[in-house]
Amino acid sequence: MIAFPLEGIEKAPLESLKALQLERLQWSLRHAYENVPHYRKKFDAAGAKPQDCRSLADLARFPFTTKADLRETYPFGMFAVPMDQVVRIHASSGTTGKPTVVGYTAKDIDTWTHVMARSIRAAGARPGNKVHVAYGYGLFTGGLGAHYGAERLGLAVVPLGGGMTERQVQLIADFKPEIIMVTPSYMLAIADEMERQGIDPRKTSLRIGIFGAEPWTNEMRRNIEERLKIEAIDLYGLSEVIGPGVAQECLETKDGLTIWEDHFYPEVVDPASGAPLRDGEKGELVFTSLTKEALPVIRYRTRDLTRLLPGTARTMRRMEKITGRSDDMLIIRGVNVFPSQIEELILKQPSLSPHYVLELSKDGPLDHLTVLVEGKGGEALRHDIKSYIGITVDVKEVPISSIERSIGKAKRVVDKRPKGA
Ligand code: DLL
Repeated sequence: MIAFPLEGIEKAPLESLKALQLERLQWSLRHAYENVPHYRKKFDAAGAKPQDCRSLADLARFPFTTKADLRETYPFGMFAVPMDQVVRIHASSGTTGKPTVVGYTAKDIDTWTHVMARSIRAAGARPGNKVHVAYGYGLFTGGLGAHYGAERLGLAVVPLGGGMTERQVQLIADFKPEIIMVTPSYMLAIADEMERQGIDPRKTSLRIGIFGAEPWTNEMRRNIEERLKIEAIDLYGLSEVIGPGVAQECLETKDGLTIWEDHFYPEVVDPASGAPLRDGEKGELVFTSLTKEALPVIRYRTRDLTRLLPGTARTMRRMEKITGRSDDMLIIRGVNVFPSQIEELILKQPSLSPHYVLELSKDGPLDHLTVLVEGKGGEALRHDIKSYIGITVDVKEVPISSIERSIGKAKRVVDKRPKGA
């Protein structure tokens, strides 16, 4: 079990963290170069050799890795160890094309378990607590990642997975967990079901929700905290980097997510040019794994938009809450819009439910957006979208409960534009 209160590295002087990062980075670059032909080819083409990395800044000389690299080498071409050392495989479904496949050695599973235990503890959970895990189990990394981390921390895990919402509510009422781990959108569906069963969501045993796997705004956080009388804490990760547990918000500050930089080295780059940006500047988050064996990732482009901030509750840097991905951006009559901007405005209307769908269609040559909301207040929302974001949209009020509830990651955008247009 993890020692309390914190691990040494979480509070280490910045200089020792940087020294550890450099040592691990040099190992990781060498490991990728020597064991993955795809990396060797790319490093050679860029004229970058692992021994050229003498400082953390030298990392910028190495080429990026993208989802396309993983697709090109599908399924196992980026693995850096023989299959007899791989003990687990996960995959992310991907909306287009082949899934992204990731692998773990026994040591990788141990690292992942460790950073997840650290995350769950940073969110405020303590040994003796019970945790209801409603992230999906299976190829998705959410369920098993949460499960292993919570067990390591000494929590009693209730491994529900996603779905069977009535049963979720019943087991929360009967087992009385203090902690729930679930996507924020599925939390909303569980809260709806509590109300349907006549249970006051504010009166359950739940005290802390550890939410992630999809973007959610601070307005959504306030809505969930108010409705369920819990602390809603942000957890971030992606399969390519390890799964959940790459970064976690600390309960004591709730000011963005602390990146577990002793294992995952972050950079933020200009999404268009790839040029490194300074801490504090907003751009695309890029990760290099420092300790991963089976699938080292070097400068992996996440597509997630955020900025790096100095550490507060821990030595490690924080990232601002992610509210969008570069590939989620909609362009409506020349104005760039992220779904999160619309979510903020929906949650400001007390008579609308927090469930919504953005429907993209064609109006002649232009893209047109219809916002589907439940309840009354559509006209006020349309007005807010026009005045705060500057775009004209249609708002369609639909009956309560008619928007499909997600049991995992919510699908907010439905593209109804003709194919190939
Ligand atoms: O979603 C891992 C995970 C599971 C994270 C459970 C947190 C909790 P993927 O399926 O590979 O992995 O999807 C990764 O989801 O690049 C982000 O775009 C998005 N994402 C994950 N966490 C957050 C978050 C898991 N806290 C992709 N806020 C990432 C915003 C998030 N977006």
